[in-house]
Amino acid sequence: MRIDIIAVVPAILDGPLNQSIVQRARDKGLVEIVVHDLRDYTDDRYRSVDDYAYGGGAGMVLKPAPVYRAIRHLQEERSYDEIIYVTPDGERFDQSMANRLSLQENLLILCGHYKGLDQRIRDHLITREISIGDYVLSGGELAAAVITDAVVRLLPGVLHDETSALSDSFQDHLLAPPVYTRPEVFQGWRVPPVLLSGDQKKIEEWRLEQAMEKTKRLRPDLWKKLEEEGQTPDSGDTAPEEK
Ligand code: 6GU
Repeated sequence: MRIDIIAVVPAILDGPLNQSIVQRARDKGLVEIVVHDLRDYTDDRYRSVDDYAYGGGAGMVLKPAPVYRAIRHLQEERSYDEIIYVTPDGERFDQSMANRLSLQENLLILCGHYKGLDQRIRDHLITREISIGDYVLSGGELAAAVITDAVVRLLPGVLHDETSALSDSFQDHLLAPPVYTRPEVFQGWRVPPVLLSGDQKKIEEWRLEQAMEKTKRLRPDLWKKLEEEGQTPDSGDTAPEEK
């Protein structure tokens, strides 16, 4: 997979994309990530990427020309499965979107800044608009880093244990159960005895129970959705309905 990211502040992406699992995936050649500075596509000596909004109002708007040039330039090299604009007024990012994006070959992510992006670019060049949650960040770079991380760790060969992405919170629409490691007693706090029992069936039952309890308590919205779909793990019907 290849991910190109167009940023107004490329330096913000350095940390998240040059460490840990994402860096290892890059080193292994499982993903190629290239960050582009939007200012390299300006044509004035101030390298300005924003301008005042028509109609007035507070806040600057990303000008269409540099973004247009950047996207067209990258499209000369390859065709993109999605051209994503990350913005707080986009579709909400979630695990199923990460799963779908991880199946693509070439992604282009444009980071927003200021009050937004000239609508004509959104109408004519952008294929998908994504928000990472209901709050406002000062720029799209952190959101692009979040999306990239969530997608890259799903690529085959990125995680050591191929099953570990599958047991994440959200992969089965439940929050993950608690986990423990050595020692058995820490500061007088004990590990739940079932985990030391060696009875794998009991352990799985316990984990499922914990995951369900935690989901009901912390994410009633998720739990309600599972109930509506008849997909709660205790409903006795965990397989998707036949079409
Ligand atoms: Cl994608 N960008 C910004 N600036 N803020 C956000 C966001 C994106 N998603 C949630 N908040």
